[in-house]
Amino acid sequence: MSDNAAELMALCKRRGFIYPSFEIYGGVAGMYDYGPLGCILKNNIVEAWRHIYKGREGFIEIDSETVNPRDVFKASGHLDNFSDLITYCTKCQAPFRADHMVKEFIDNPDVLSPKELEEAFVKYGVKCPECGGELGPVDEFNLMFKTYIGPGSARIGYMRPETAQGIFVNYTNLYRYNRERLPLGVLQTGRSYRNEIAPRQGMIRMREFNQMEVELFVDPEDKDWARFKDIENESLDLIPNTTLQLTTMTVKEAVEKGVIANRVLAYFVYTTKQLLTTLGIDPKRLRFREHEKDEMAHYAADCWDAEVLLSYGWTEIVGIADRGSWDLSRHAQFSGQDMTHFKKYDVPKEVEMDKVKAKNKALGPRFKGKAKDVAAAIESSKPEDVKDGKLVVIVDGESIELDGESFEVVHVKEKIAGDRVIPHVIEPSHGLDRIFYSVLEHAYDHDDKEDYTVLHLAPVVAPIKVGVFPLMEKDGLDDVAKQIYDDIHRSNAEAYYDGSGTIGKRYARMDEIGTPWCITVDYETVEDGPNRGTVTIRDRDSKEQKRIKIDDVKNIIDRLLSGSDFATI
Ligand code: ATP
Ligand code: GLY
Repeated sequence: MSDNAAELMALCKRRGFIYPSFEIYGGVAGMYDYGPLGCILKNNIVEAWRHIYKGREGFIEIDSETVNPRDVFKASGHLDNFSDLITYCTKCQAPFRADHMVKEFIDNPDVLSPKELEEAFVKYGVKCPECGGELGPVDEFNLMFKTYIGPGSARIGYMRPETAQGIFVNYTNLYRYNRERLPLGVLQTGRSYRNEIAPRQGMIRMREFNQMEVELFVDPEDKDWARFKDIENESLDLIPNTTLQLTTMTVKEAVEKGVIANRVLAYFVYTTKQLLTTLGIDPKRLRFREHEKDEMAHYAADCWDAEVLLSYGWTEIVGIADRGSWDLSRHAQFSGQDMTHFKKYDVPKEVEMDKVKAKNKALGPRFKGKAKDVAAAIESSKPEDVKDGKLVVIVDGESIELDGESFEVVHVKEKIAGDRVIPHVIEPSHGLDRIFYSVLEHAYDHDDKEDYTVLHLAPVVAPIKVGVFPLMEKDGLDDVAKQIYDDIHRSNAEAYYDGSGTIGKRYARMDEIGTPWCITVDYETVEDGPNRGTVTIRDRDSKEQKRIKIDDVKNIIDRLLSGSDFATI
């Protein structure tokens, strides 16, 4: 951990943002608890995300189970593909993520095979960072936590490694809820679990973490977005996988030049930038990097990572992927359920085709009560199912072989109203904890000379919006301050009453947790004179102070919270 990250994590612990989990028992790497301020900040991030995706885009939200049966991950491909490469020190047995061991020598080591990594250890003389021993062979390590559903070993389950699967397995329910229309946008936030090999980067690599995921189901032939024109002239810093060079261009140019594959993907890449900068991420320390072909997850057709510059280096905090039809077609295949969208034509099409038709007269005497089911099974067969004049159908689990006496293949002209297609999925997947940490790091400002810390948090995420202080906790100043605190806290936003220590110390305490404004009740507030009934309000970033009427406090706080500049109040 760098000095900056260590100082920030110390502040987080001291001031109640983040606590290392199970600290009284020595802690567990990659696990953290959110403290009181951390909880508020985390919830504020989630609300800003909901504001965009539910508020502006009108998507719907679900909350699904975190323990899933094995079938889900067999279908999703996680059981076979969701692994990192591991190596153990041959001397002290410490485990390491193999690609991370050559990070300083190779630009994008994710793409290397086990053999290439073993060769890189030799080429660059990489040894165990703990004891200097030789690194052993490189193997695959599946990152999912395994468990059992029910007593004993009744049924194998896994903790979900992404919230996304809960949305995919509910596709038919959600599609029906959306009245069988596309686009269908669904969001989910909650815990995901990955048994990370060696979490050594604080909140960047956790074993139990929070995601905010959006799965947008679209017509594969219509990857456009109505609001694209609202943002087409905005700019993006992009590193395409074709050039690996940073290039700045508008969203429109990115699509027209084929840098981003389609308008809907580009729209959500830009939406990610909007969300992150609203949360206070510095746009100069934000870029979007396209995955290299052999770096892509097993389900992705294309993927752009939002990377921010942290003391850990450039770090992925959001992945925006085009998952194509991978998830729905796999779940349809493994569950036998229909996971398609019925795409109605504007005008019904007349098509000529071959069809298998039942000869009902022959079926009655042979199959009696079952004849109707056999006829239905025949008519749902395709002409190519007929082999050497025979057709096999399954009715009530029984396999029945039929010949030309029971069916015929006829050439027909039919009006078709539409087609069944498997929707494609566009997925902005946000790592909530990584965003949380990045917001703090980009806000962190420590003056070494003065030994003074300010968190320049955007008001939308700041856990406490207003500090309220009486100059002295006596002579009725405290009563007035408590009343103001109460009014703000009940109706405007989180406020904090502080009556102890010098005013300078109280400002410092609020600056350190990123409180944007502080209100002080002094003697002028209560004594006769021109300032009776007024208080001072101080702005964290400019340090400017103004005198305002107590009666205006609530209104002014609302204006500041909705974005008015302090100078204009
Ligand atoms: P990395 O390459 O850093 O392991 P990833 O490519 O595996 O990340 P994704 O699978 O795309 O990450 O996950 C989506 C998002 O979930 C990431 O952008 C990240 O913000 C978050 N995330 C993934 N793994 C972790 C983790 N171990 N701890 C915290 N956040 C995580
Ligand atoms: N849903 C994307 C991921 O977590 O990998």
